[in-house]
Amino acid sequence: MKHFLSVYDLSPRDVDEIFQLAAKMKKELKEGVKHPLLSGKVLAMIFTKPSTRTRVSFEVGMHQLGGHALFLNSNDIQLGRGEPISDTAKVLSRYVDGIMIRTFKQSDVEELAKYSSVPVINGLTDLMHPCQAMADLFTVLEYKGKLKGLKMAYVGDGNNVANSLLHACAKVGMDIAVATPPGFECDEKIAAEAKSDAEKSGARITITHNPEEAVDNADVVYTDTWVSMGQEAEKEKRVAIFKDYQVNERLFSLAKEDAIFLHCLPAYRGYEVTGEVIDGPRSAVIDEAENRMHVQKAIMAILMG
Ligand code: CP
Ligand code: NVA
Repeated sequence: MKHFLSVYDLSPRDVDEIFQLAAKMKKELKEGVKHPLLSGKVLAMIFTKPSTRTRVSFEVGMHQLGGHALFLNSNDIQLGRGEPISDTAKVLSRYVDGIMIRTFKQSDVEELAKYSSVPVINGLTDLMHPCQAMADLFTVLEYKGKLKGLKMAYVGDGNNVANSLLHACAKVGMDIAVATPPGFECDEKIAAEAKSDAEKSGARITITHNPEEAVDNADVVYTDTWVSMGQEAEKEKRVAIFKDYQVNERLFSLAKEDAIFLHCLPAYRGYEVTGEVIDGPRSAVIDEAENRMHVQKAIMAILMG
């Protein structure tokens, strides 16, 4: 592992290693045991989109690892005025030990990695959200004790989060059913990559337009916003298209009795999910958000240590 750009790039062993280290550091943190694996190291964090969880979990995570994180709003650095990504990558590589970036185009993240001599971590693009999917499966593992043979249902927009969940479930042998409205399916190339991994891992992948079919017998029900960052102008249109894809009590009741609910957050109650479900007893969204930090610490320790 040189960079962390996509879950597809990982081997099942890499995933296992990340989860084991994350679990160890989570336990140590609760016990007050320090783990300064990145003592004196610095992470640059470039953001061209807003963030609560990603920013805070990386920044606090670096602090807990004995290092430091630098928040770089793209509007405040020369990148926002047209400095090439390649120059930014080469220069930052002389100062820092790792770069995390949240931006629009996946190709910009790949360009940054190409010219960077330090590890690059994808903190969300329009196409993927790999740190999120890793934290999500880690959360499922904590709740269910295993991943193989379980079923995740993703209902809603076939967006960055859905794409990375496809990659992640296929990698570890967890079944995944994705239900989206026609025209809002997951990325075709990512679905093909997931299918090829699923052949090796034994995961079953279902792509459907029917939310009931997806949720049937699921162990995990997942949804995300209908309006991702950058799509604000399409809000009205999207709300009309997605209205039958809401995760509410009726839909959630079709999953297994002990199914848990996940959402990457931020959530919009009354749209993709009802308050009853996301604030209900089987919602694991706050644990899921916490786990972003533990899993990302493991990713950083492995890449930058
Ligand atoms: N889930 C997630 O990435 O949240 P933020 O946008 O707050 O970072
Ligand atoms: N799909 C959402 C995820 C936010 C964490 C977005 O891209 O805005």
